[in-house]
Amino acid sequence: MTTQSNTPSKGELILRLHGIGKQFGAVTALEDIELDVHAGEVVALVGDNGAGKSTLVKVLAGVHQPTSGSIEYLGKPVSLDTPKKALEMGIATVFQDLALCENLDVVANLFLGHEVNPWRMDEVQMEVRAWTLLQELAARIPSVREPIASLSGGQRQTVAIARSLLLDPHIIMLDEPTAALGVAQSAEVLNLIERVRDRGHGVILISHNMEDVRAVADRIVVLRLGKNNGVFTSDTSHQDLVAAITGASENSVSRRAARKQQDAEAVQ
Ligand SMILES: Nc1ncnc2c1ncn2[C@@H]1O[C@H](COP(=O)(O)OP(=O)(O)O)[C@@H](O)[C@H]1O
Ligand SMILES: [Mg+2]
Repeated sequence: MTTQSNTPSKGELILRLHGIGKQFGAVTALEDIELDVHAGEVVALVGDNGAGKSTLVKVLAGVHQPTSGSIEYLGKPVSLDTPKKALEMGIATVFQDLALCENLDVVANLFLGHEVNPWRMDEVQMEVRAWTLLQELAARIPSVREPIASLSGGQRQTVAIARSLLLDPHIIMLDEPTAALGVAQSAEVLNLIERVRDRGHGVILISHNMEDVRAVADRIVVLRLGKNNGVFTSDTSHQDLVAAITGASENSVSRRAARKQQDAEAVQ
């Protein structure tokens, strides 16, 4: 296991993407993408279908190699050649399908692939570690010996997030964590995301749900047709976000900017 030295303190810049581009043959999936992620913040990544969200996640997860641009991690230029390397460096991803084993219990799923190395834990140690982590996250799981099949969608998402935290990553990426959930379960997962942020991780949240995004995000990064199309705060209105996502030019942000310009001209 990699133990990350020099754990970043809250607010510290962990990740900086500069001019990232990704071509798939003739298709430009990403162009000139800029993205910063700090410790202890939730950055939401939003955009319409085909905007490039999944491609960007895969670049950061070490699945795809960018065709241009640079990635800086804890102040140093890095290349994320493989998923293993990204994970070892401290970038964890919870993909949309969660990849949990239905027939195994919570403990087994948390430690899947880690049973022997690096921990060499026995069943009791694993159970204690599982309970401790879930309690720290205030997760509502009835028993760590419950098979995944009997858990709700929200509880499954919780287990998948908890599993990604076991390696103590600096950054955790969540791909549409509330897409399949009802209102109450979504709220539970959003609470969990806030607790993960409060532990000092940088969270990248991909979501279609503007209410969820505005509820937990510190910053909202809009992608449109593979390019940055604005960075917003959580008090941005639903309409303004939708306008940035769809590319509608007439929106209150552009109107406000136009008003400012008029005021400035009036003063002169
Ligand atoms: N493996 C691939 N091969 C070719 N084109 C791809 C591949 N992955 C994504 N694309 C294209 O890149 C663009 C961005 O896709 P994607 O990142 O999946 O967007 P999003 O996740 O925002 O819906 C789309 O035009 C998509 O068709
Ligand atoms: Mg996608």
